[in-house]
Amino acid sequence: MRYRVLVSDPLAEEGLDTLKEFCDLDIKTGLTEDQLVDIIGDYDALLVRSGTEVTARVIEAGKRLKFIGRAGAGVDNIDTEAATRKGIIVANAPEGNTLAATEHTMAMMLALARNIPQANASVKKGEWKRSKFMGVELNEKVLGIVGFGRIGREVAKRAQAMEMKCIAYDPFISSERAASLGVEMVTLEDLFRRADVITVHTPLIKETHHMINAGAIATMKDGVRLVNCARGGIVDEKALADGIASGKVAGAALDVFESEPPTDSPVIGLEQVIVTPHLGASTVEAQKNVAISIANQCISVLSGGSAKYV
Ligand code: NAD
Ligand code: MLT
Repeated sequence: MRYRVLVSDPLAEEGLDTLKEFCDLDIKTGLTEDQLVDIIGDYDALLVRSGTEVTARVIEAGKRLKFIGRAGAGVDNIDTEAATRKGIIVANAPEGNTLAATEHTMAMMLALARNIPQANASVKKGEWKRSKFMGVELNEKVLGIVGFGRIGREVAKRAQAMEMKCIAYDPFISSERAASLGVEMVTLEDLFRRADVITVHTPLIKETHHMINAGAIATMKDGVRLVNCARGGIVDEKALADGIASGKVAGAALDVFESEPPTDSPVIGLEQVIVTPHLGASTVEAQKNVAISIANQCISVLSGGSAKYV
């Protein structure tokens, strides 16, 4: 009997080709929860990126489901507790897009410091307003990195090459480990107080939801700049909009939003906020890496083996 696998978000060809040799593959993107519930009972495995919400209802309807794979890092769009209750293995591909997300963070930080998206739009409208787009240098500025995991550490390396002073907060990483990378571990309060630019690289969990809120912003430096290429919901968008309106926050660069697409977000219309549509992992290289990783893990589990990143 050939296994049946459903891919419900776009996955790179290299991963799909690997899977096709092993199972019957259906690619159906843009499904609603009801549509997914209707069909999931026919499948042994479900592979997603961030576009599909794998809710408890979907998992309950997945009568023969053995594996749910996330082609990427965050599993916050999968109800992992519901899956565990049913004995379904949930795995992700956390390493394949680390450098893509890191480079996107650097691009966003530089674009924010030099007003590049706003200046680009202005020149294309026929304007030539050089003084309007005066920027700031990153050289010698303090970069506060919240979450010093794979991406946080790669961001630090690149920021150090630009001669930024890096400080970090991560309750699960030792000061010695950070010091070996030339980074000073500090408390979250210290980081907020000292950083000129703050970039978040944590998962979205109960402890990090609205970690950047009105209270936190009040303790930051005047003119602080914020970058979120991790997960929407870590930054409270209403508090950020208020911080920008008051002048406390000079600007923000956001790749991710509390709700995606961010149709009702109070920050979208603000000139000081630059945005991209969750592009952190969107490089040819990263998509190939995560697709191959999740395809191999899927095949391993369906063949009675284990997954590398459970
Ligand atoms: P990682 O697991 O390697 O690192 C996350 C770090 O956050 C860990 O070191 C962990 O100890 C730390 N952490 C956990 N709770 C914390 C807390 N309360 N305070 C401070 N630190 C805390 O993950 P990663 O691969 O570096 O990914 C980081 C984030 O980036 C994730 O949310 C991931 O989903 C996201 N991501 C986004 C994109 C994108 O497309 N924008 C792409 C890749 C990853
Ligand atoms: C991730 O967490 O890996 C990213 O959000 C990936 C994606 O773009 O789906």
